Amino acid sequence: LHPFNVNAQGHLTIGGLDSIELANKYGTPLFVYDVEKIRQNARAFVDTFREQGIKAQVAYASKAFSSIAMIQVAKQENLSLDVVSQGELYTALKADFPVEKIHMHGNNKSIEEIEMAVEHDIGCIVIDNFYEIDLLAKTLQDRQKEMNVLIRVTPGIEAHTHDYILTGNEDSKFGFDLSNGQAEEAIQKLMNINSIHILGLHCHIGSQIFETDGFTMAVERLFQTLSDWKSRFQFESEVLNLGGGFGIRYTKDDDPLPLSIYVQSLIDTVKKQVQTYRMEFPEIWIEPGRSIVGDAGLTLYTLGSVKDIPNVRKYVSVDGGMTDNLRPALYNAEYDAVIANNVYSKNKEEVSVAGKCCESGDMLIWNIELPIVKNNDILAVFSTGAYGYSMSNHYNRFPKAAVVFVESGQDKLVIKRESFEDMVQNDLSYE
Ligand code: LLP
Repeated sequence: LHPFNVNAQGHLTIGGLDSIELANKYGTPLFVYDVEKIRQNARAFVDTFREQGIKAQVAYASKAFSSIAMIQVAKQENLSLDVVSQGELYTALKADFPVEKIHMHGNNKSIEEIEMAVEHDIGCIVIDNFYEIDLLAKTLQDRQKEMNVLIRVTPGIEAHTHDYILTGNEDSKFGFDLSNGQAEEAIQKLMNINSIHILGLHCHIGSQIFETDGFTMAVERLFQTLSDWKSRFQFESEVLNLGGGFGIRYTKDDDPLPLSIYVQSLIDTVKKQVQTYRMEFPEIWIEPGRSIVGDAGLTLYTLGSVKDIPNVRKYVSVDGGMTDNLRPALYNAEYDAVIANNVYSKNKEEVSVAGKCCESGDMLIWNIELPIVKNNDILAVFSTGAYGYSMSNHYNRFPKAAVVFVESGQDKLVIKRESFEDMVQNDLSYE
């Protein structure tokens, strides 16, 4: 089910290393990434485009997990980068990521964010709203600079996923609607600004999507628009950015397609549309986040208290929870786990895994079969590489976990565990 192995002692291994030794060395909760798996995921996207001679950019959506080391891996794999804030851009610059391959998103970009993007000559800004057009035009004029942009549109496609993470339907805070003339108004406005070069259209239909139909419908809708805009505004799209959202496996109920299949489907659909409308073949850009890092990472926890309510439930608590993985509390997201020091034990029981935050909703996994648990067992929760560390928080003033990269039999600490002193460093005294 998950791309990890077990050694002779029955311990889970990650990139060939014993997870229990990692837990002992770095403490828990601990995020561990198999870097080889990150590279494989990235290459599944990049190689499928390259093998068919399709001009493409695969932009890693760094919101899924942004850190200097991760951005360096993205750079090594020739990915582009999607950032949505000054903080993510700052991290990318610190990692020396090539600026021309950085794309900036956001539905409420601040003037500071726009200025930072312009100052560093990033590759493109994805225009989301009218307010931002004015801010960008003014910034470019003041600085005598130019900028490439994509126009983010909402094609009205509902992807089959959890409501909270739907961003492509029409009642959305993101982008310009295609159905009510706002996208047309945006392109006309942008075409009148000399310092702005419009590369093309962008859409993102949602996240954790398993089927290709939603993407196909979105591409078809974009081409209808482009065909219309070609005749009315003489506008041709050099680039079509189809966003991210490719699903991954969290539990056995999830059945994602191989990543190359999503890409193949996009290529085939674009090919068909190009023929239908007799248009130039655009560059295809995508923005996968979860599918690059999600299944490459896991979290190690130490088990502590057990509360057995006879005939009801057995709660086993870990030393982390919604502070390092908000997804179960926020989306009812489901995860799979094993006892990393005793993977193969036949003697099993059903338990529910609780976090340690003061909140009843802080449950990581309901009703999972695990070997009979003991204090100080190490629990490994799989597929926590995306939106785990990046959504972690300081509730109850738990320090943020550490992150370790494993590759070629070597482990490397890439984010230090936070100290209590780190946590209070911005607190000021009132005495
Ligand atoms: N591009 C845009 C414009 C996006 O809004 C997103 C995700 C992505 C790309 C990357 O999507 P991915 O390939 O990772 O699915 N916190 C939620 C996911 C929120 C996704 C937001 N946008 C979760 O934990 O499931």
